[in-house]
Amino acid sequence: MTLLSDAHRVAQALADYDDMTSRREGVVLRQPPSAQLIDQMKLHDLARDGGLTGEVLSQFLGTYLEGTIRLRDPRAMGHQTAFTNEAGAFGAFIDGYVNNPMAINEMGPAANAIEQFYLDWMLSKLSWKEKAAEGLQGGGVLTHGGSLANLTALCAARSAMAPDAWNGGNPDNLVIIVPAVSHYSVARAAGIMGLGQDAIIPLPVDGDGRARADLLPDLIARQQEAGKIVMAVVGNACQTALGLFDPLREMALACRKAGVWFHVDGAHGAAALLSPKLKHLMDGAELADSLIWDAHKMLRTPCLCAAVLVRDHRRLDTAFAQDASYLFHEKDNPGFDFLGRSVECTKASLGLKAFMALAQEGEAGLTTYIENLVALTAEAAKIIEAESDFEIASETEFNIICFRKIFGGETCSLELRKRLLERGNFYTTYVEHEGERWLRLTLMNPKTTLDDIRGLLEEVRLVSEMTA
Ligand SMILES: Cc1ncc(COP(=O)(O)O)c(C=O)c1O
Repeated sequence: MTLLSDAHRVAQALADYDDMTSRREGVVLRQPPSAQLIDQMKLHDLARDGGLTGEVLSQFLGTYLEGTIRLRDPRAMGHQTAFTNEAGAFGAFIDGYVNNPMAINEMGPAANAIEQFYLDWMLSKLSWKEKAAEGLQGGGVLTHGGSLANLTALCAARSAMAPDAWNGGNPDNLVIIVPAVSHYSVARAAGIMGLGQDAIIPLPVDGDGRARADLLPDLIARQQEAGKIVMAVVGNACQTALGLFDPLREMALACRKAGVWFHVDGAHGAAALLSPKLKHLMDGAELADSLIWDAHKMLRTPCLCAAVLVRDHRRLDTAFAQDASYLFHEKDNPGFDFLGRSVECTKASLGLKAFMALAQEGEAGLTTYIENLVALTAEAAKIIEAESDFEIASETEFNIICFRKIFGGETCSLELRKRLLERGNFYTTYVEHEGERWLRLTLMNPKTTLDDIRGLLEEVRLVSEMTA
């Protein structure tokens, strides 16, 4: 295998893929059975014989790309997966080759420095870099994804609210208050932490799924009066289903007053912090105790890279109070070891791809990318709403729209989405909100246009007729 010639083959194949998908050629997704794909990609032969280089590599890549969902096609409007840029992808490639697991500084000084820089860049958007007035300094760590980030942040919350839990186990009166529509990773974190699902107290939401902050003081008080320790309150920025932001300031103030940790799940929407036009959506996030922010959603970064940010860095340092003498010991190297802040031991150089993605666009470029998508989403919602046979679930605030076709008594069914996927011309997701079913679009691709939205509506009409 030669690095240069094979890298050239890979780059050529990806450039062709980029061209083809940008031109909306073919379908966005096909879903052949796995057994067929295993066959087509010749996985058995390759695993036995090796030799994945040169022409064999090109052929393998060709069949692999055939079996991908084409997120680079402007008609892909499904999940909140980043529309990656070239530099971010190079970051993933470089990290794959250099392979510096940099959770301890000596295992990757450059990547470690980049992680520190990237986290500081994010912290500065919350004014958590230096918090002289409160005598606090923010801190953070990058993790493999938002789910792990939520778990890490909740462990930090536990170390603040129940400091003895790490050694003595959870007291049986810990609860967390979570808006009913929150991402499932929050409940899963509670399960992993041994709190149990009964420890999750649902915070009622309004008809659009926004947390009812007005009910929060009373809910906290009732829990406390009942002898519970409210370990954390979670706010969504934005919620996964409808993409709307919780009233963070009101929630943060209620938490401060009651002495409760406030965690913001900003996995998707914290990117609004970059934009002067959109940062009002995140108003009050700076009063939180912790926040997560996925770079692999709105920041053009290949999966995965999520940040856990805390207003007081010491809380992350106490989240996992463990010893491992071969890793945690007094050293005279400069730099910072992230190991103490992270669930993971070996950790990829996550900051490299996130930073390179940022550095290709520059902060201004990234901001324009986000603002354009949000503007496109607002226009798309108007187009959908103007059609008498369609309705949208709520106003839009960011780059997510839920909508459905009204036909007969039935509105949007799972069957309809199944047919859409079978045809493969567009990719949308599907959500249930308040017991009703909606198609869901997340506009991530800067090449998506309003004509793509119009085309999607035609496709839904067609599929509706086939389904009726
Ligand atoms: C609000 C929110 N939080 C957390 C997550 C989980 O992030 P990840 O998929 O990176 O684990 C998601 C994912 O969609 C999300 O929308």
